[in-house]
Amino acid sequence: MADFEARARKVLPPVLGHYTWLQIDRGEGSWLVTSDGRRVLDLTCGIAVTVVGHAHPRVVKAVTEQAARLMHISTGVAKYESSVALAEMLATVTPRGLDTAFFGNSGAEAVEGAIKLARQTTGREAIIAFRGGFHGRTVGAATLTTSKAQYRRGYGALLPEVYVAPYPYALACALPDPHDAEACAEHCYAELEAMLEHEVPPEHVAAIFVEPVLGEGGYVAAPASFISRLRELATKIGALLVFDEVQTGMGRTGAWFAAQKFGVTPDVMTLAKALGGGMPLGAVVSTRERMERWRTGTHGSTFGGNPVSCASGLATMQVIRDDGLVGRADTLGALMVEELAALRSHPRVREIRRFGAMVAVEFDEKSAAKAAIAAALEKDVLLITCGFHDQVVRFIPALNIREDDLRKGVRVFVEAARAVQIAAPA
Ligand SMILES: Cc1ncc(COP(=O)(O)O)c(C=O)c1O
Repeated sequence: MADFEARARKVLPPVLGHYTWLQIDRGEGSWLVTSDGRRVLDLTCGIAVTVVGHAHPRVVKAVTEQAARLMHISTGVAKYESSVALAEMLATVTPRGLDTAFFGNSGAEAVEGAIKLARQTTGREAIIAFRGGFHGRTVGAATLTTSKAQYRRGYGALLPEVYVAPYPYALACALPDPHDAEACAEHCYAELEAMLEHEVPPEHVAAIFVEPVLGEGGYVAAPASFISRLRELATKIGALLVFDEVQTGMGRTGAWFAAQKFGVTPDVMTLAKALGGGMPLGAVVSTRERMERWRTGTHGSTFGGNPVSCASGLATMQVIRDDGLVGRADTLGALMVEELAALRSHPRVREIRRFGAMVAVEFDEKSAAKAAIAAALEKDVLLITCGFHDQVVRFIPALNIREDDLRKGVRVFVEAARAVQIAAPA
């Protein structure tokens, strides 16, 4: 293991952040097996990707069969069954009217595509995003990303005409305490209106990009009232409402998409992560009418919607549907919160929250969150952080995890968190 880490450090660049140096040999369902035989419970899903677990037999079969038949031709050159079948199946579960999918390779690429779609089809340039959001690392997506300033460090000027409004995150709200989530949402909406009055004319705005639940920013759901008001505002000013559902999509929230949980239909959705079930795949999803206006040849990708990725995504969606995993997300979320309730009185815990199976424990600071996940890993449970300061531990189990495994995993974390120094360092 030490030798492996030394090899990795020598040839992989330090710019890659890393939660651990574990050397994973294989994955089996919700378990990872290291090259020296250690079995670790995976409560990360490789950052919200492996929604039906590792090496699901139906997904592996679909991938291997597709790889043997056709690995690549490029949608620019010819068409093939797996991408059409995946787009057709997506259209049966997406919010009403969002029936056409442009496939790319990743979340960031989906966001880039959505920026271009919005600008070209509205003839407008400005984009509104929200402070605390994460949309990816490419230059356009990074411009919309404000969960941490470090994502822009040293990169100079990014995309022009991007405006950032506050996100209704009650624990990080500019309002003086005490205030509740609704009051924070009210404040944020007023700031957005002020932005349209003072900084960017409404008729310049091509799109409002929002994560209905902050992912990397801390697993924070916006109040439903705020999401509804964004819908009304976008319609009123003629801008597109874009939901970045890269992290929230594909059943994680207890609906196929968070949009459906909020009862709000966006004009565009960006998808990735669980969409490919472990293979690289992203998508911009919108209405036929809007997609017809995105001019042929003005966007594209050699690998986007690769046959194997689409076969993997299709098989993953079929497992989610056949095994009722969308409905299971809320059951798993409730189970996790029930086990985590023991931490409510922990002096370093600020909040325990969930939206479907997106569950988070927010600590007072990073050191406490890091100490808790390090202690859990000692007991073979893998968790990762999120949040502006990495002060939040997030739970992202596969939606087909066994209940007893999940319960045991969360209990290990509770014990680990209890052992964290009670008093915050001065
Ligand atoms: C909401 C959201 N959008 C976009 C991205 C970027 O996705 P990718 O890393 O596949 O480029 C992420 C990644 O964490 C995300 O959570």
